[in-house]
Amino acid sequence: MVTKKLWSEGPQVSAIGIGTWSWGDRLFWGYGKQYGEAEVAAAFQAAIAAGITLFDTAEIYGFGESERLLGKFQKQSQNPVCLATKYGPVPWRLSEQAVIQAIRESLSRLQVDSIDLYQVHWPFNFLMSYETLFGALATAVHQGLIKAVGVSNYSVDQMRKAHKLLGDRGVPLAVNQVRYSLITRQIETQGLIAAARELDITILAYSPLAQGLLTGKYTPEQPPTGARTVDGRFKPEGLRKLAPVTNLLRQYANVHDKTMAQVALNWLTTQEGVIPIPGAKTAKQATDNAGALGWSLTADEVTTLEEASRPWL
Ligand SMILES: NC(=O)c1ccc[n+]([C@@H]2O[C@H](COP(=O)([O-])OP(=O)(O)OC[C@H]3O[C@@H](n4cnc5c(N)ncnc54)[C@H](OP(=O)(O)O)[C@@H]3O)[C@@H](O)[C@H]2O)c1
Repeated sequence: MVTKKLWSEGPQVSAIGIGTWSWGDRLFWGYGKQYGEAEVAAAFQAAIAAGITLFDTAEIYGFGESERLLGKFQKQSQNPVCLATKYGPVPWRLSEQAVIQAIRESLSRLQVDSIDLYQVHWPFNFLMSYETLFGALATAVHQGLIKAVGVSNYSVDQMRKAHKLLGDRGVPLAVNQVRYSLITRQIETQGLIAAARELDITILAYSPLAQGLLTGKYTPEQPPTGARTVDGRFKPEGLRKLAPVTNLLRQYANVHDKTMAQVALNWLTTQEGVIPIPGAKTAKQATDNAGALGWSLTADEVTTLEEASRPWL
């Protein structure tokens, strides 16, 4: 398995992780209808068998169910894994103690003594200042409740501020988890990737398959289920606009005997300091996504994909 440092002083993890938002989430993904615990347990086992060691969840996914499932699966597994979860900076969390309490609840659901990576899900600071929040997170690192701090959906300025506040307490900012795929490349034009590289912060790329759009399986005749049906990108006109990118993905998939998802993910892994975390609901998807590693697009193919996806910069 190809590995990367999760951040420069951090643990070595698989160069692709698995996102577990859909594990237990009924509202967006429809957990409990076409798939359930058996399927996501098989996804976990297939990911482990393929050498994946990084799993991303959040306390909000399935209102705790994703963390509970991941905790159960990792407990049953003999293989060491790196668990990343997220804290919701909701308005009713007012004090440093509320942060520590949220961490303790995640520890309990995940069935671990210390969380490998604890990320702030959104940059909201309703009633808790960044000073209080990152002070509490630094304290949690010093107490051993969490091993590293990350942020998510933070802009360049917000990321720099978090990096500074943590740095003042001797704690690195390990990651910024942001949306990044061949058809969501705004973090490049916003200067976020450049700033992350400068500050030695890893980008965890979420929705790296654009929620299934880049797998090529959705067509006007075969739309997705659930909440994605209202997303314009999955409608006939939206799908047509993607053709310059999806046609290339299909072409390169044929050349390398890979799937379109594997090509889309492989392209992301060629970006320095980026680790994609594709969601997987089934063993087949987990195995497929892990197979994005261990082979290479040619330099020309990487460039051609970059050029074709410039409208999404
Ligand atoms: N920090 C944040 O704000 C934030 C936001 C969103 C996501 N995330 C994290 O990022 C992870 C991934 O993002 P995401 O779930 O939004 O989108 P994604 O990874 O782009 O897409 C995942 C979906 O694509 C389909 N899929 C996955 N692998 C496939 C394969 N090999 N072949 C065919 N279809 C495949 C599955 O849905 P179908 O089978 O139904 O098509 C799966 O649920 C999440 O699980 C979560 O951990 C974080």
